[in-house]
Amino acid sequence: MAENATESKMEEMQLNDGAAKEAATAAEEDIVDPWTVATSSEKGIDYDKLIKRFGSTKIDQALLDRFEKVTGHAPHHLLRRGVFFSQREVNKILDRYEAKKPFFLYTGRGPSSGSMHTGHLIPFVFTKWLQEVFDVPLVVQLTDDEKFLWKDLKAEEAFRLAKENAKDIIALGFDVEKTFIFSDMEYIGSSPAFYMNMIKIQKCVTYNQVKGIFGFTDSDCIGKISFPSIQAAPSFSTSFPQIFGGKKDIPCLIPCAIDQDPYFRMTRDVAPRLGYPKPALIHSTFFPALQGAKTKMSASEPNSSIFLTDTAKQIKTKINKYAFSGGGTSVEDHRERGGNCEIDIAYQYLTFFMEDDERLEQIRKDYTSGQLLTGDLKKELIVILQKVCADHQDRRKQVTDDILKEFMRPRKLKYDF
Ligand code: TRP
Repeated sequence: MAENATESKMEEMQLNDGAAKEAATAAEEDIVDPWTVATSSEKGIDYDKLIKRFGSTKIDQALLDRFEKVTGHAPHHLLRRGVFFSQREVNKILDRYEAKKPFFLYTGRGPSSGSMHTGHLIPFVFTKWLQEVFDVPLVVQLTDDEKFLWKDLKAEEAFRLAKENAKDIIALGFDVEKTFIFSDMEYIGSSPAFYMNMIKIQKCVTYNQVKGIFGFTDSDCIGKISFPSIQAAPSFSTSFPQIFGGKKDIPCLIPCAIDQDPYFRMTRDVAPRLGYPKPALIHSTFFPALQGAKTKMSASEPNSSIFLTDTAKQIKTKINKYAFSGGGTSVEDHRERGGNCEIDIAYQYLTFFMEDDERLEQIRKDYTSGQLLTGDLKKELIVILQKVCADHQDRRKQVTDDILKEFMRPRKLKYDF
């Protein structure tokens, strides 16, 4: 109880504190918001500091233990290894699961490019696992409107990219009877319930508050200023009457990268005023660019990422050429002083993609001691990513337009509410 009171106080503070971001930048702190991730440290973002700044809670061993006890599933490697490292009220979701009360999963993606990169898979791989563990409905929001507003992109093109990205998401193996994927451009126009939630949220948040949370300025277009209400709306079950039959008390759990938290701090702040439950959250760290952990991988920079469409050869070349190395300056130096896994990008990628804990630990030890050379470490990663991408390309080919249409059709899922 006490913890909750503190948390909602924090949310309120942040909602009203317009100067927070400026202060953070001036103090040379990491910059993390939905549009910018930047740090001056080679080790990447200081996530412990971020948890304090955002007022979320670190995922600790006690929560992992409870997760395992309640669900009967050992935590996913992305949880065990701290890729998903922060949360808000996941305990409440576990309470509901224990009490056999319903909830749903909500996640999303901003379709800024036709081809997704391997980092984009992470939240969806994890979400799919959560859905398998909990057996609950999932809604996936494709914010084509957001990308239109923020990027130099035609509306029609953003809508097209949303559908292309939906195919990549479907290719991960989501169950059509449990999953609704929607484009904002398409769904909002057809759903009075969704639109009503949007305007209800809009009425609760002032311009001053969104300026504080998102750093909007007087010269940002008004589309941007109201957009947060669109990303907030899917948190509420009433936005999907076809799935939840109009029930307003079904909470959601949102897996997302931590840069999306500002949207959901705002959502959690307005929820009680609308008579809705607050969304619970589970946050991931960022997937680093090949060039190093100072920034996140970006789809607009071809050499900063491994794309799902890359060929085996491209993957090999990019990793060998661009993956920032924590190894020694020469073989002798490396043998003598060892490599630094904390800044080595190939190693970091392995923590995302290599499932075998023991093998990963062996690699860490051998690299740190200098026994394993950078080239060999990179080779491990190349083999894994070549398989990830080739398998993905095969499965994506099987996602027809008809399958896509069915996932994106507003409909009841297999659950009764
Ligand atoms: N804004 C997110 C992006 O640009 C997309 C998104 C919408 C999202 N709703 C979400 C991400 C919910 C995580 C959870 O990628």
